[in-house]
Amino acid sequence: MKALLLLIVAVCVKFEPGRGDSPCAHSPHTWCSSAEAAVRCGVLQQCLEANFTRERQTAEPVKVELYYESLCPACRNFIGSILYPTFVLLGDIMDLTLVPYGNAQESFDGGKYIFKCQHGEQECLGNMIEACMLNLTSSDAFLPIYCMEASGDVVKAAQPCVELFAPDLSWERLMKCVNGDLGNQIMHQNALKTQALKPSHNYVPWITINGVHTEDLQDKAFSALVPLVCNMYKGEKPAICGGAGRRFKSYCQK
Ligand SMILES: *[C@@H]1O[C@H](CO)[C@@H](O)[C@H](O)[C@H]1NC(C)=O
Ligand SMILES: *[C@@H]1O[C@H](CO)[C@@H](O)[C@H](O)[C@H]1NC(C)=O
Repeated sequence: MKALLLLIVAVCVKFEPGRGDSPCAHSPHTWCSSAEAAVRCGVLQQCLEANFTRERQTAEPVKVELYYESLCPACRNFIGSILYPTFVLLGDIMDLTLVPYGNAQESFDGGKYIFKCQHGEQECLGNMIEACMLNLTSSDAFLPIYCMEASGDVVKAAQPCVELFAPDLSWERLMKCVNGDLGNQIMHQNALKTQALKPSHNYVPWITINGVHTEDLQDKAFSALVPLVCNMYKGEKPAICGGAGRRFKSYCQK
């Protein structure tokens, strides 16, 4: 499944590198917005099977929150191999919130906040870039963040990932946020949000589902996030939920 989804992205990237009007450059939801878009993005079969329709949403989306830090290997692995495929399949019935900060610490020097990150300066920079993307693009930040986290060098990947997945966001505007007061304020908000967790986090990635963190939910988020979100969703379930048991077993048949 992971390989398939990566292939979908690879296909889109190949056809339409960074074109602002390409349906493939935006959220996966738009890949299925029309049969034509689905064909152009090379995902018609997946769209027919998953049958995304936000309009058909009949209940509150399941709130999935991720508290993480940009260079933590376990966070990167969770985003790349669990959260991203789940978002592609179930983005219409989940509300995803990312809070980059994690195990960082902050202090105040009288004028601005100073951040110290578990994996050093580069991690603070990665956190800040992602926090600014989230603030400046609101709902369209997940793909460029996923793109960064799945890359060999998270920080170096930022600019190509923005060009590809958030073509409407100018790099200059993003850097102004990263290096300025806005970024400092946003990261402080992330610090407050992370510190307010109950129970307080003692590792990352730390997941809450509908605002709740338990060891059981955390374990399920890691082992079976698709069925977890499907089960928590009170409305009419998307087709992918019904077939989940079957769909996630794969065979190489003769
Ligand atoms: C999506 O699901 C609805 C209701 O289950 C169905 O009527 C419709 O034909 C499906 N669309 C596609 C493209 O499979
Ligand atoms: C961006 O950050 C500013 C300053 O903290 C805040 O007022 C604004 O609501 C944020 N916007 C989004 C979309 O998060």
